[in-house]
Amino acid sequence: MTKTMLVTGGAGFIGSNFIRFVLKKTGFKGRVINLDKLTYAGLRENLHDIELRFGGKRYFFIKGDICDSKKVNIIIKKYAVSVIVNFAAETHVDRSIHGPKDFIETNINGVFNLLECARANWKDRKDVRFHHISTDEVFGSLVKTGRFTETTPYDPRSPYSASKAASDHLVRAYFHTYGLPVTISNCSNNYGPYQHPEKLIPLALFKAVAGEGIPVYGDGGNTRDWLFVEDHCRAVWLIINKGKAGKTYNVGGNCEKKNLETIKALCLALEKIRPRAKNPALKGRRYEDLITFVKDRPGHDRRYAIDSGKIKKALGWKPLFGFNKGLEATVAWYLVYSAHLKKTVDASYRAWLKKNYTER
Ligand code: NAD
Ligand code: TYD
Repeated sequence: MTKTMLVTGGAGFIGSNFIRFVLKKTGFKGRVINLDKLTYAGLRENLHDIELRFGGKRYFFIKGDICDSKKVNIIIKKYAVSVIVNFAAETHVDRSIHGPKDFIETNINGVFNLLECARANWKDRKDVRFHHISTDEVFGSLVKTGRFTETTPYDPRSPYSASKAASDHLVRAYFHTYGLPVTISNCSNNYGPYQHPEKLIPLALFKAVAGEGIPVYGDGGNTRDWLFVEDHCRAVWLIINKGKAGKTYNVGGNCEKKNLETIKALCLALEKIRPRAKNPALKGRRYEDLITFVKDRPGHDRRYAIDSGKIKKALGWKPLFGFNKGLEATVAWYLVYSAHLKKTVDASYRAWLKKNYTER
């Protein structure tokens, strides 16, 4: 029988990169079903190339909600799904502060529904896998030293991270209680092609190219551990294939940067590829001159850093993209696909941004 993988949230940033990675770079011979609700963050066109090459044969797009048990059950049965990889989520911390309801609905109830559907269809099968994509934000905020390991106690501090923490607990509970073969990965901040421009790196790029202020929250000293998205995709692929059921793996770039450093590195990468002299929107300014300090995010976690020792040792994973290489690839992609990005930045997003950012 053909192996079929159900990827949820595959029209978003990491999910679309993952589907492209699986179908083009792993030698996987089976089918991929992409179930995505197409919220403001999802764009079917993110996988246009994949639809052209594999559509109707090994790639199937289905518009739908992970909370819809009827639809999920039909998909699992009809396509004989034996692997579920759950990327579907509401993902933007700032949005979770302004309106947490959708986060509870998708990130908690949606995951609960997926687990129930998997359990009902797979029963006691052990040749199946439910992989849940999570975040390092469930561990809370670090002080100056130390890194998150798989045994760091959960301490989520935003509605987003709290909803992800709840879903992680549910996934683990289904392993312990029902024996469902699950794995979880908790990853640090990703960057790369197809990321929605509400997140720091594409937002800063978008603003810089347009010659507009690049908003830096607070003092710019908050630290994130950056990972190029393809390195994350490879980690997930390894976990699905070689990871042990019931286990959690932390995935990080070993690439801690203060936000200000990240933005300055981005400005340098941009200057290399599109020098300011060739960008009339700059009006003679340097990209860095656009940095604008704005009001801080409430409850802004100060520092995240991941210890990836376990996945390195157990599965032989390590990041292959250095920060500068990954940033240059991202900037180059952005400049080629800026029309695509403009489409992503649709009217509703522009309105949201205007409402929530002008007062900062
Ligand atoms: P994204 O916001 O770019 O994409 C999310 C996708 O999920 C969108 O295509 C959206 O339409 C879809 N979706 C939302 N609600 C849905 C629902 N109810 N049913 C079906 N589809 C739905 O997110 P992303 O950055 O690609 O993140 C993917 C996953 O990775 C999330 O679970 C997130 O928590 C996790 N994660 C992200 C990062 C990061 O830096 N972006 C880091 C660690 C973990
Ligand atoms: P973000 O991309 O939203 O990811 P997360 O909050 O999940 O880590 O933000 C990354 C960091 O950048 C975070 O410390 C908040 C900060 N930030 C800014 O300074 N300015 C911005 O406009 C955005 C969107 C984020």
